[in-house]
Amino acid sequence: MRRAVPRVPDVLAIPFTRAPSCARSWLALCGKYRLEISVLTPTNPTKATTQAHPNIALIKYWGKRDTALFLPQTPSLSMTLSGLSAKTTVEFSTAFKADRVELDGQSVQGRELERFTMLLDRVRGLAGISERARIASRNDFPKAAGLASSAAGGAALTSATALAAGLDLSAHELSRLARQFSGSACRSIEGGFCEWQKGVRSDGEDSFAVQIAPSTHWPELRMVVTICSEAKKAMSSRLAMQHSVDTSPFFEGWVRQVDLDLELARSALLARDLDALGPIVETNACRMHAVAMGAHPPTIYLKPVTLEVIEAVHGFRRDGIQAWFTLDAGPNPVVLCLDTDAACVAQALSAVPGVLRTVTASPGEGATLLDEHLF
Ligand code: DP6
Repeated sequence: MRRAVPRVPDVLAIPFTRAPSCARSWLALCGKYRLEISVLTPTNPTKATTQAHPNIALIKYWGKRDTALFLPQTPSLSMTLSGLSAKTTVEFSTAFKADRVELDGQSVQGRELERFTMLLDRVRGLAGISERARIASRNDFPKAAGLASSAAGGAALTSATALAAGLDLSAHELSRLARQFSGSACRSIEGGFCEWQKGVRSDGEDSFAVQIAPSTHWPELRMVVTICSEAKKAMSSRLAMQHSVDTSPFFEGWVRQVDLDLELARSALLARDLDALGPIVETNACRMHAVAMGAHPPTIYLKPVTLEVIEAVHGFRRDGIQAWFTLDAGPNPVVLCLDTDAACVAQALSAVPGVLRTVTASPGEGATLLDEHLF
């Protein structure tokens, strides 16, 4: 958990900062890349507010091997986005009779509330406390439209809950907890580029996200999020991926392929080679959608405007612009390009009929502690 990422010489691998109130961070060297590791040290263990950003998978997570523990069948790789964010305040108090959750001002009830209670119970168990909690969360981007809102929200929620409960957890421990709220949330605890190791253990202890490169590794990389629909999608990622596992004959092929896709993407990313990264990112997204479309009945997230955007991206490449798309479980493509082309890509995509707006993001930071609470 950090307040900011100070610049340090690349050769330093020592503890460098103690944040003013309740977070401390280290930079360590991991191979030739700097790895930011954060540990929480709360001083006010009852109320905390954090902010986290969505991540977009370059190599997708699609299918679980354990639905209760959120263990994936395959590893995945993502970029955490700057700009878009979820903020969450969590408070524990003996004055609260029950857990209470508000998302964007709306009270959460029923099954949805149970998801929060399960995370709270896990954290209460770890911290040895029994107080009920009040949670408020706000997103500055549309929920459930394929923009990884559950990743940002889940990472902010997990880190704020741990802090408010007085826990002193590493980034990897937070990632493991966030995973059990929403799988992709485990990749938003840290910033930059994160790989979610699928792990092999049945208890999930080795399944968490690891930062393979910080945001500073490739500051020129851009993702142009192309919003074509802000409507809630007909089928959640959670249900759709399980439906693919259960009924898509292509699922086995997907599992066999992902390791190879990930290896290609990882080396292209570490080499900052967009000509190598773009094609595998685009292919991997299409493979995921092919698996979903091969389910019975099919899951189809693409809308006519999605295909128009894809056509436009192919047109950019014919014109010599390096641009490739990826697509989560929704109709909104995200276009990978360099900063020098981002404005032109965003402008052209905004002009595609049916596109509502675009948001351009660069590699962003991990979950951050905030001073201002939501309540
Ligand atoms: C298509 O993380 O939302 O965005 O673990 O069931 O909460 P649950 O699913 P979720 O699925 C994300 C799927 C995806 C691909 C990805 O982000 O890797």
